[in-house]
Amino acid sequence: MLVENLVPLQPFNTFGIQARAHTFVRIDSVATLLALHRAHPSWLRSQPLVLGGGSNLVLTGDVTQAVLKVEIMGRELVSETPHHWVVQAGAGENWHGFIDWTLAQGWPGLENLALVPGTVGASPVQNIGAYGVELQDRFHSLDAVDLHTGQLFSLDAAQCGFGYRDSVFKHAPGNARHLGLAGRALITHVRFALPKKWVPELSYLDLVRKAEETGTAHPSARQVFDWVCDIRRAKLPDPSKVGNVGSFFKNPTVSAEQCTDIIARDPKVVHYPMPDGTVKLAAGWLIDACGWKGKAVGNAGVYDKQALVLVNKGGAANPATGGEVMTLAKAIQTSVYERFGLRLEIEPVVV
Ligand code: EPU
Repeated sequence: MLVENLVPLQPFNTFGIQARAHTFVRIDSVATLLALHRAHPSWLRSQPLVLGGGSNLVLTGDVTQAVLKVEIMGRELVSETPHHWVVQAGAGENWHGFIDWTLAQGWPGLENLALVPGTVGASPVQNIGAYGVELQDRFHSLDAVDLHTGQLFSLDAAQCGFGYRDSVFKHAPGNARHLGLAGRALITHVRFALPKKWVPELSYLDLVRKAEETGTAHPSARQVFDWVCDIRRAKLPDPSKVGNVGSFFKNPTVSAEQCTDIIARDPKVVHYPMPDGTVKLAAGWLIDACGWKGKAVGNAGVYDKQALVLVNKGGAANPATGGEVMTLAKAIQTSVYERFGLRLEIEPVVV
């Protein structure tokens, strides 16, 4: 186990913000983590920063708590039922590469989540979702280590408390609604239940258009994967070229009455009625309507093709600071509140 000090974190966060980790440890196996727990239990008790691909993270300064960079690898079929292949991956595996591999093995189901940046271990934390599929739809179970006690444990889907971009891993311990495992657990392996009777999920409008354009009513999973890659590349900045953390805010949910009030303010508001009677609004549209596309605070800017995404306009040499990113985010929240009476919730983890 190698403990590094004052490690530059710019390569480890996709926004490309400069900050340093006072203490940095690469976790390449459960054994390494348990050895760290024996050697420095206090580091693991003081809310360490568990780092996957750093694609959902905003750093606002040097990180004084221990940074645990998860590099547990491996992917395998662990069991089969009449209806599913149960496939496991190490938390450090690249998410997109993992999907590509499952498709090459003939196990479909994750293709709508292609090109979501980050690692397998981070995917349940925010219950990643895109193009009509959420992680919880394909999730089987996960293994984790309790950072306080060093105990190994497993959780099934119900125990993960999944919600829209939400899980038990985003909530502080002690929160009444959730068990609350933020800063308390490190996910080591995730298992997925991939359907043997697969049907493509094509409800999302952009995919309907792709099916029409190509005249393919019954695409293969690989075809859907390629379509999703095309759609994302056209709409979202590639983090390896322009620093970003994907959607910066969650799409807000309002009551039907609130939605009527917002439609009265602007009839064009993009909204999706939900099965429970609430209405989800497109945060990107709300921000765009407030005129934010292309605006900036220092080197933190609003992406010109999708207002829900904040970008690093300064590249690696002159990157936005975490302060600039948060000032921009707060200014956007204020203007959306003043115009529509809605508080947008920040989606990435801010440290
Ligand atoms: N829109 C605008 N202007 C904008 C941005 C969006 O008018 O600047 C409109 C679009 O025209 C569209 C609507 O808003 O009618 C929704 O936009 P989009 O289809 O791009 O999806 P989104 O709701 O903004 C969500 C997820 C994305 C995910 C896509 C596709 C959230 C917070 N974001 O974005 O997830 O890829 O749907 O499923 O739920 C992420 O979480 O990092 C992420 C990229």
